Amino acid sequence: MPMSIDELVERLGCLVAGHAPLSTILEIAVRELHQTNPRFDWTGIYELFPDNVLRLGPFVGAPTDHTFIGVGDGVCGTAVAQRRNINVPDVRDFDNYLACSADTRSELVVLISTGETIFAQIDIDSHCIAAFDEQTVRDVERVAAVLADAYAYREAPAPP
Ligand code: SME
Repeated sequence: MPMSIDELVERLGCLVAGHAPLSTILEIAVRELHQTNPRFDWTGIYELFPDNVLRLGPFVGAPTDHTFIGVGDGVCGTAVAQRRNINVPDVRDFDNYLACSADTRSELVVLISTGETIFAQIDIDSHCIAAFDEQTVRDVERVAAVLADAYAYREAPAPP
């Protein structure tokens, strides 16, 4: 039985509060988020590295050649360059699109960020046109927010 978004956000919040390893939190987030919506055909996390390259982290779905994406490239890199979430209802209309699968028809990228700092992003592909309605975007944003807490915790200076 898939978790609801409420249950997933609560579970992730508990893991963050319990200082679970970031890699564990990301893996659970991706695995469970993927199952919340039958329209999610590929769900993954790209982490932003200091050299301005996104590196593929945990994912569910078909393997992709796009394990590294430069800032400004594709939907993923454009979201970072423009510092905003991007919902692409039809990937054929996105000039800079990097195809992971010929079956993908729509894509959603939600940044995992706090203030000015972008840590990573959630990337979701769907075989359906316009798969991501407003409620779905809000749901993914809630997951991204709790993951931002996990990154912020990791980055915080150790207590004296
Ligand atoms: N389509 C993405 C590349 C990543 S794959 O979807 C997994 C893009 O245009 O950035």
